[in-house]
Amino acid sequence: MHRHSAARNMRATALIFSSSLAHPVFRFILGRLSVLGDFILDLEGNRMSRTVFINGRFCKPEEATVSIFDRGLLFADAIYEVAGVIDGKLLSFSTHMARLERSLGEMKMKRPMSDEEILATMREMVRLNEVKEGLVYMQITRGSDGDRDFLPKGGAEPTVFMFTQEKSAAETRENDEGIAIVSGPDIRWRRRDIKTVGLMGSVFAKMDAKEAGGAEVLMHEDGFVTECGCTSFYIVKDGTLITRPLSNDILPGCTRKSLLALVAENAVALEERKFTLDEARAADEAFITGASTYICPVTSIDGITLGDGKRGPVTKRLQEIYMDYAQADAI
Ligand SMILES: Cc1ncc(COP(=O)(O)O)c(C=O)c1O
Repeated sequence: MHRHSAARNMRATALIFSSSLAHPVFRFILGRLSVLGDFILDLEGNRMSRTVFINGRFCKPEEATVSIFDRGLLFADAIYEVAGVIDGKLLSFSTHMARLERSLGEMKMKRPMSDEEILATMREMVRLNEVKEGLVYMQITRGSDGDRDFLPKGGAEPTVFMFTQEKSAAETRENDEGIAIVSGPDIRWRRRDIKTVGLMGSVFAKMDAKEAGGAEVLMHEDGFVTECGCTSFYIVKDGTLITRPLSNDILPGCTRKSLLALVAENAVALEERKFTLDEARAADEAFITGASTYICPVTSIDGITLGDGKRGPVTKRLQEIYMDYAQADAI
């Protein structure tokens, strides 16, 4: 397509999308018109450095704006998903979509895009931003009622946006060094099973842990470990993998779900039960999991070395099994 007609197209689509009356699906389909060839052109026909997605269109980050009355801003009335990207492909997509569906249901929020539209958009985001390894972040807010009121009016169209982030392989799949983590009280709300953006409990905990030399925080409540600041947590004792069972107390991690299925298939002994901080500190091995962290070994908790202070054999085996699965499963 000619550069000038491309710029005209961009202007036309920008005008259409500036109308808040446009239906989100309509906006979604039209928004794709602004993608030309292998990248997006700005109004002057220049290639954009970073492309984000908001309410049906791809644009520069600074052009992705939301109302100050957006409930995501005012009340953290929003949910999100983070899908890992490996070799330019999306990881555990259907698991993320199942959790998104659950979050929308628990929040009684409207769904702005179908799974198919989300997949197409996430793939486009990965392609446009040339992400080889990293993540796609998607957030859906309840939208704006044009005012601030605790009670949602119910008529607002959801706001949906996405961006990508790079993360190097050395930090993720090749991680054999492990990290030191530090414990802290779990001060989060009581619905940690919903993936909402109200994350200050985790942010505080991670900041405190960092000050104490921890790369991640191990949160605990009533003497029992819950999970880490932004990852699921596991210990290994006498060859048995131990992790807290799902409940409202922890996030149902997508990586956790895939890993536990692989653990069952590979006959690794598993106990899903609560365990104390002391039990964690006395473990032979420990590790964390997350969508863009995969499996990361933990070598010390609160300065207490686990095992010989190196990545343990069970952790190593699970990393290998998981990475084989992840590469095969990515779409
Ligand atoms: C509190 C918490 N636990 C666990 C996880 C890991 O979940 P997933 O494997 O789906 O990334 C996350 C990810 O953001 C998280 O925030």
